[in-house]
Parts: sequence; structure tokens; C-alpha cells
Amino acid sequence: MFKGVLFDLDGVLTDTAEYHYQAWQRLGAEIGVTIDRAFNEELKGVSREDSLKLLLAHGGRTKEFDSEQFAELAQRKNEYYVEMIQQVGPKDVYPGILDLLKHLKKEGIKIALASASKNGPFLLEKMALMSYFDGIADPAEVAKGKPDPGIFHLAAEQVDLTAVECIGIEDAKAGIQAIVASGALPIGVGRPEDLGSDIEIVSSTEELTIERLISVWEIARN
Ligand code: G6P
Ligand code: MG
Repeated sequence: MFKGVLFDLDGVLTDTAEYHYQAWQRLGAEIGVTIDRAFNEELKGVSREDSLKLLLAHGGRTKEFDSEQFAELAQRKNEYYVEMIQQVGPKDVYPGILDLLKHLKKEGIKIALASASKNGPFLLEKMALMSYFDGIADPAEVAKGKPDPGIFHLAAEQVDLTAVECIGIEDAKAGIQAIVASGALPIGVGRPEDLGSDIEIVSSTEELTIERLISVWEIARN
């Protein structure tokens, strides 16, 4: 049986992946870089700085910004994003998530956050989910972002486990790659077209029941 669940946040616990997209779109529009949802799949799960690099490369604008301007752009995007998430509350927690967290707690299964977002703790507080989390991996402490497995190793470590003892839940391609590389068992939230057809996928968080997690684990690990 798995001993922990390592949760991504944006797009798994709540709809903030959409706000990241809108904030990047707004910043992009200001500097003449247009992005669409297909391109946004490449940004999901990716750190703020790495996302900005991808966005500038997408628009062929990489060489136009020195490091100071780059930092200003990253900060501006974050300001747009932070403005949008002020209104997030318990009502915004995705369906099924609260029940899952309660059941995991009842079973003594550890719960950890493995988000690349520096706004993660703020959002957990806003959604009144903080008390369910036994550990939070600080993205500032990992050398490389997703798809590197670092953040999942760190999240497992925060709850005194190793990643192989855990299930990881993600909505991003880079995140799934990170889970697989960490040795944890991945469950994707989204579409096989985006996340791959070789892993367990749910189309809605409503499907993330403890029974489903147990059955995915038993099939994969026994
Ligand atoms: C998550 C999101 C990404 C975001 C990253 C950094 O991984 O999926 O879209 O770029 O966190 O978030 P931050 O709030 O620190 O800019
Ligand atoms: Mg995500």
C-alpha cells in the first residue's frame, strides 16, 4: 500500500492553472508574444523563470531582454497572477479533493505538496487546506524544476518517506515526467493527448477517490 500522496497544486487542487495562463497571456500581449492553450501545455508545471524563457523563445524575443528586464517581466507576471488569486477560497477547491484529503488522513496516509509555485502555501491557506498537509516542498530548495524529479523527492522527504512509497498527482506533462523520474506512481488529471496514454489518467478530480488510488496502486505495484 502507498504511504503518501504527493500533490501538485495548480490544476489539481484548484483551477489556478487557468490564472497562470491568463497572467502569461497578459504579459505576452504587452511584449508582443501571443500564446494559445496548446503552447500553454508546455508551461504547465514549469517554474516562473523557465516559463518566461519558453515564452520569450516562442516569440523569438529571447535576446531582447537583459537579466534585469527579465526579472522585471517575471515579477510583472507574478503581480498579475497574485492579483487574480486574492479571491480564491474554499469554494474553489476542485470536486472530490476535500473528501480525498479527509480519507487519506483517516487512513494515516501522508499528504505532501509538490508544487513549483512559490504561491502554493498562500493558496493552501486561502482554500483552508493547510491543515491537511503534513509537508510542503519549498520549490526554492530544489536546483531544477519539473520535469526534474527534485520537487517530488523533496516532498516525500518532508513526510519521512521516499518517492517510491508514494502516488504523485499532476495535471502537467512536465509534472508527470517528474513523478515518473522520482519513482513515485503517477496519476494524471487531464487528457491522454496531453499527458500520455501509458499512465493512469482521470478526466476530473471527482474520480480521485481513495478506492481509485488503492486500485491503481495494486494494479501497478503487485
Ligand atoms: C506551477 C504552475 C506553473 C507556474 C509555477 C510557478 O508549477 O503549474 O504554471 O509557472 O507553478 O509558479 P509561481 O506562482 O511561483 O510563479
Ligand atoms: Mg499543475
